[in-house]
Amino acid sequence: MSEEPCTYVIFGATGNLSRLKLMPALYHLEVAGRLPEGTMILATGRRPWDREKWISEVKDMLIAKARNGLDEKIFEHFKQRLHYFEGNLTDPNMYPAMRDFINNTPDFPQHVAFYMSIRPAEFGVVVQNLSEASLLDEEHGWRRVIIEKPFGSDLDSARALHQRISRYLREDQVYRIDHYLGKGTVQNVLVFRFANLMLEPLWNRNYIDHIQITHSETLGVGSRADYYDNAGAMRDMIQSHLLQLLTLVAMEPPVSMEAEAMRDEKVKVLKSIRPISPNAVHAQTVRAQYAAGMVQNKKVKGYLQEDKVPQESVTETYAAIKLFINNWRWAGVPFYLRTGKRLAEGQSMISICFKQPPQQFFRANQIQRMRPNWLLLGIQPTECMKAEMTVKEPGLEMNTHQMSLDASFRTDKDIAKEAYEELLLDVIKGDRSLFLRYDEVEYAWRVVDPILRVWAMERDYIPTYPAGSWGPKEGGRLFEREDQGWRHSLNPD
Ligand code: BG6
Repeated sequence: MSEEPCTYVIFGATGNLSRLKLMPALYHLEVAGRLPEGTMILATGRRPWDREKWISEVKDMLIAKARNGLDEKIFEHFKQRLHYFEGNLTDPNMYPAMRDFINNTPDFPQHVAFYMSIRPAEFGVVVQNLSEASLLDEEHGWRRVIIEKPFGSDLDSARALHQRISRYLREDQVYRIDHYLGKGTVQNVLVFRFANLMLEPLWNRNYIDHIQITHSETLGVGSRADYYDNAGAMRDMIQSHLLQLLTLVAMEPPVSMEAEAMRDEKVKVLKSIRPISPNAVHAQTVRAQYAAGMVQNKKVKGYLQEDKVPQESVTETYAAIKLFINNWRWAGVPFYLRTGKRLAEGQSMISICFKQPPQQFFRANQIQRMRPNWLLLGIQPTECMKAEMTVKEPGLEMNTHQMSLDASFRTDKDIAKEAYEELLLDVIKGDRSLFLRYDEVEYAWRVVDPILRVWAMERDYIPTYPAGSWGPKEGGRLFEREDQGWRHSLNPD
């Protein structure tokens, strides 16, 4: 795949995502020498800034976010790429002006990527405006559009958005981003599964008892209530990131690692998820909202006391869900997905629990319980792969102990690359394997839509959990047996 220079246009460049993730990611690509020479970055925003002001803003962002601090020499080179275009997205006249700016600024490459770091409600109209100003014409170079999540807010709106943008863009021009797919360990799930023969015979309903996928955060909603209160944890995390993780864990080996082959297999998993009927929603899901509490020894507010959260909000900040995949490999194996804000610890992990051996030979006494084997994939902050096995403790007694075999590459001290770095580079390369095809989005909505419909009718009450806890007590009721429960740690307990 070629890495030709392009003009990276960032809509919403002065917003949070751009400051915290996109600009630092582009800078880190510069540090790594991976930005093709000649690549230009055109920030657009409403603020009345000129180029000098933008460069100094970017410098401040990078001083705050650059790994190992800002390297002045590299920044001198990086800043040559930075340009600013002031404009209002909702003003159709902005687009012809932007086109002229791109065409008339010497050195702007003719390939153009447009990054939509804007409110989801604006995706459709911006694409339409780009097209009407001929900014999507591919006469002199490719045009690619990167769309942030959420793609729609339910199945119907996702379809409508898809129809709208499909009038102006071919599917291969659309890069629907799910930044989880840019995370190192997430990609390692595929390597782990498909580059090691040992696991494949065990990777099915005969040996696996259940699978848990957790993303927990200690942070609260912060300044994002405008968006979050309309989304909630199910739309914000489960419909996108956690279902993507599930597809990678559960999919069949793809024909190749090409984008289409991978996406075909992921879609097959999503299609095989047993639909949750309205009367099963209570049994298969849990939702809750954080109340005031203590997070890492600091007192924090409850969700309802956060800035811009409506007093009567019943938006869930915690969601857990039990799913079954109706295919030969996974029939009968529960997949438990959960996510929450203001939980006890911030981490993402996949925990695979194996079945018990058929006979328990080595129990020292009746009280000591044999433990199942676990495979643990830590995604963040610790990136690791661990297998938990039972071993004999040294000594005369036949006492057993859980040991962790650790196949981690990275130590806690290494600073992981940010997911956005790889994804931004993939856009330049035209590699779509880590981006979502529309049918993936559609089938993911089909999984969560019935749940959201039931929740939308129950607007008078939501259970709470104290900030700093592991969520509501009800979270455990999804499990089928008493000896099962949420796993919170990568270490044996
Ligand atoms: C975003 C969600 O997509 O992912 C946020 O909108 C969430 O609410 C974030 O905090 C988590 O991403 P990461 O990379 O910080 O784990």
